[in-house]
Amino acid sequence: MGVEVVVDGLSKSFGAQSIWRDVSLTLPPGEISVLLGPSGTGKSVFLKSLVGLLKPERGKVVINGVDICTCPERDLYEVRKLFGVLFQDGALFGSMNLFDNIAFPLREHTRKGESEIRRIVLEKMEMVGLIGAEDKLPGEISGGMRKRAGLARALVLDPEIILVDEPDSGLDPVRTVLLNQLIVDLNAQIDATILIVTHDINTARTVPDNIGMLYRRSLVMYGPREVLLTSAEPAVVQFLNGRPDGPIGMSEEKDTSPGELARLSEVAVPPMMPQLEVTPGMPERTAVRRRKERVLRQLRTLAPSAQQEILKTLTPEELALYGISAPATGSWPQQSEPATAPAWPQQAAPAPLPQDEVADVPQQVRPSPHPRDPEAPPWAGSAEPEPVESSRRRWFGRKRGEQ
Ligand SMILES: Nc1ncnc2c1ncn2[C@@H]1O[C@H](COP(=O)(O)OP(=O)(O)OP(=O)(O)O)[C@@H](O)[C@H]1O
Ligand SMILES: [Mg+2]
Repeated sequence: MGVEVVVDGLSKSFGAQSIWRDVSLTLPPGEISVLLGPSGTGKSVFLKSLVGLLKPERGKVVINGVDICTCPERDLYEVRKLFGVLFQDGALFGSMNLFDNIAFPLREHTRKGESEIRRIVLEKMEMVGLIGAEDKLPGEISGGMRKRAGLARALVLDPEIILVDEPDSGLDPVRTVLLNQLIVDLNAQIDATILIVTHDINTARTVPDNIGMLYRRSLVMYGPREVLLTSAEPAVVQFLNGRPDGPIGMSEEKDTSPGELARLSEVAVPPMMPQLEVTPGMPERTAVRRRKERVLRQLRTLAPSAQQEILKTLTPEELALYGISAPATGSWPQQSEPATAPAWPQQAAPAPLPQDEVADVPQQVRPSPHPRDPEAPPWAGSAEPEPVESSRRRWFGRKRGEQ
């Protein structure tokens, strides 16, 4: 099973330039997560911080009980063996052919013989469609081929944590879809914890179990895919739909008037696309069941629109298993809450993100302060939610100073 990655209160600057502050999230073991954000918001810096190549000045990244921000170099070396990383630029050695580039981690970190190395390298090259290009130098192939070679190299050690920085940039649409399927199938085969940075909307909508978004020097949202894909938060809607109108401008931050924000918040959120399934014949993704149980435990802390989408994914057997009553009409209940339940802020009127300060959890995904309402409707489920505070920390980040 993949390894959990716990990021807690992480902040990174370069000199006077703050990249992001107080980022907290958990990559659940074996699940696929996507990190979004406008260009320059520090997604690549975040990935490099996860693998210990950059040192954030505050916070922790805990993997197998080791905080890689402060651990000795020796421990970091060991933890790094868990990772397979595809950097944004591919980071291939220019003077080595593709075969040797892809074989490099095996020769460096294992005692495998050359015939086994050859078998593994060719297997991974076939997986990414590069058979026949073994002898090419990185300078002799296309940008998309370099990306795929970088991906093959990231996979040769059968990593438990896979970080991929824009695997789809430079790929044509057909190869992007095939790559997405490859990632899902790979996850089913090795149950690795995967984090993908992408600008591809279709990838963000169909591949991950969880989505996060960096924006204005902060992780403004992170949670199950249903939360972000149904969110009416203008920056999230704008980004996930590639719209020109919204708070994100060419220079990332632009002033948006309250009136403009109110208008944007009325733009309909498109329906969710189904998540990519594993290719028939492949093993099932074991993370799917773990995720279902995890998400159901926190169901009542999520926005009603996200709750509905999550409930729609349950089969009648699962509804019975988790003690959730299906509505008699066959249609899922609307977002109405009983009068005594805490009122959810309306989707149509999201709170604007602060202009300059660290953006906190947007109102419409802020967990209820009363997660276990005895009068909650039966469809809200009998699954025990985790305490709201720990759930908030897990999914929405921890405020500085909080334990
Ligand atoms: N080693 C470094 N030294 C100084 N500044 C850096 C360094 N690496 C990145 N930065 C700065 O950090 C900011 C975030 O960079 P990063 O590459 O993480 O953005 P990104 O979100 O990955 O963008 P893109 O989507 O364009 O790849 C940028 O302003 C960049 O100039
Ligand atoms: Mg980047």
